Amino acid sequence: AEGLGTAVMGSRIEYFVDLPTTNDEAKKLARAGYPEGTVVVAETQSGGKGRMGRFWFSPRARGLWFSVILRPPVNLVETPQMTMVAAVAVALAVREHTGVAAGIKWPNDLLVEGKKLCGILVELNAEIDRVNFMVAGIGLNINIDSKQFPPELVGIATSLKIETGRHIPRVPVLRVLLQSLEIWYQRWLQEGFAPVLEKWRELCVTLDCPVTVHTIKGSYAGHALDVDETGALLVQRTDGTVERLVAGEVSLRKR
Ligand code: ATP
Ligand code: BTN
Repeated sequence: AEGLGTAVMGSRIEYFVDLPTTNDEAKKLARAGYPEGTVVVAETQSGGKGRMGRFWFSPRARGLWFSVILRPPVNLVETPQMTMVAAVAVALAVREHTGVAAGIKWPNDLLVEGKKLCGILVELNAEIDRVNFMVAGIGLNINIDSKQFPPELVGIATSLKIETGRHIPRVPVLRVLLQSLEIWYQRWLQEGFAPVLEKWRELCVTLDCPVTVHTIKGSYAGHALDVDETGALLVQRTDGTVERLVAGEVSLRKR
């Protein structure tokens, strides 16, 4: 897109003041044939969502709440990699633009000293083994003060303003995020997952550390060993057995 310095990301930008969730709007536009790189951005979301239907706090004008339509020529098994592509792209852009040392928490969060700065929700539209489109939703807390978070997020969430001590204009942040997403998305498609995974490992703060794994069947303690080439997390349980965790099914806590 002209002015952005990107070929794909932001080729169209659909701006909304209010939306239930930018992910659903992007899915609707993708079904209607909007091109790859279309960005749906809202000032606030009344029904912002995280994984497993959890709520995403999206206060008006205080963060970037947006979704990008993607049409990658990949197989279904490779689609979880996109969450990691986005995490690398956003973490690096945030680091370069603000100096905030954002780290990645498997599979879809960016943390600063254990507090959540950004969440990524990639949704898929596919049939049999054909990927029709994906929507990459990104929620980045920017100018939220600590006292503005709801009680349940106090001590859990953070923002760029809290971390830097200053107001951060949002438009330049959106620009660097789209530029970084473009670079890492193209690298993934052209060079495969290996270079993404290498960078992801460098940025990840939940590898080689004790963790608690929460599943619908219950919780257990273990040690996060590594991720495999599909993006699954390998956790060694205290009895020595290794579990392969697929995003979407589990929730992770650092111990
Ligand atoms: P966690 O391990 O932090 O619970 P998760 O990956 O298991 O995260 P998600 O569904 O990815 O859970 O994230 C949703 C959670 O993120 C919510 O339940 C809430 O705790 C938290 N959250 C919601 N809005 C925000 C926000 N704006 N900033 C930071 N955290 C938020
Ligand atoms: C998570 O941590 O579970 C992911 C949160 C993703 C939030 C973003 S904000 C833009 C997009 N629209 C949504 O409803 N969710 C994502």
